[in-house]
Amino acid sequence: MSVTVRVPAKVNVQLAVGGARADGFHDLANVFLAVGLYDEVTATPADELRVTCSGPDAHQVPLDRGNLAARAALALVERHGVAPDVHLHIAKDIPVAGGMAGGSADAAGALVACDALWGTGASRGELLGICAELGSDVPFSLVGGAALGTGRGEVLTPLEVGGTFHWVFALADGGLSTPAVYREFDRLWEGHEVPAPEASPDLIEALRAGDGVALAGVLSNDLQPAALSLFPALERTLAAGTDGGALAALVSGSGPTTAFLAKDEESARSVADALLASRTCRAVRVTSGPAPGATVRAHGT
Ligand code: C5P
Repeated sequence: MSVTVRVPAKVNVQLAVGGARADGFHDLANVFLAVGLYDEVTATPADELRVTCSGPDAHQVPLDRGNLAARAALALVERHGVAPDVHLHIAKDIPVAGGMAGGSADAAGALVACDALWGTGASRGELLGICAELGSDVPFSLVGGAALGTGRGEVLTPLEVGGTFHWVFALADGGLSTPAVYREFDRLWEGHEVPAPEASPDLIEALRAGDGVALAGVLSNDLQPAALSLFPALERTLAAGTDGGALAALVSGSGPTTAFLAKDEESARSVADALLASRTCRAVRVTSGPAPGATVRAHGT
């Protein structure tokens, strides 16, 4: 018997960041959109907790108990007194350390898979609570679609999306550490008052209307200056995508993946070609959103 759960990546269509709080986190107005790049987590009974990973970037994923999928399983073990005898396999398609919530996806996937495998029967509320303890972006990986995250990003309000948005993602050579990008944000703002983060009503309306041109005009990421300061080469990738016909370009979350909104699927393909031809990125992915949250795909025997 095994359980496989599929979990999407995300792009932040708005990431408004406030000043550092006493606990070191930042208050956010974080508008998440799930997109159709997925990791799959399979939970199978085993003698002890074990994590394996496959996929082109698998070698970059730590497989010890610091792995977010392992931590998710252990959180469920602690609450329900079950034995942590599970093999978690991650089939990884979401860029690693790319600002697309790949680690968060694995945590949400492992949680849902272990809950189903062990029959712990955790409520949606309990699962969301465990997700929030594991990381700020993990609750959104569970729910998918589109949502406004407040607090440190973990308090979710679902948002209506009235259409499909077409995206190209450019993968960078190397990764960026999220804490390092937030530290750089703090450094860039040193000596200035950071305004309180607020969701843009125009952006929420553009999502509701499914209007890509309107959304392109209001995409924003307050972490972008910090990501560009640590990874200046991304400026060239952003320019290559807009020169190639994207409606808008931005850094995805804390980066270094860059995201390009396109008019339609055909335009997304030509933006992807232009990005590849520019040699300013390692690889490109064409996809769309919104995508559903963590979904049980298969119960094997
Ligand atoms: O919550 P998560 O573990 O994903 O956060 C990773 C790091 O990102 C935190 O340790 C913190 O440095 C930074 N962070 C932040 N404010 C947030 C979310 C994350 O400063 N709202």
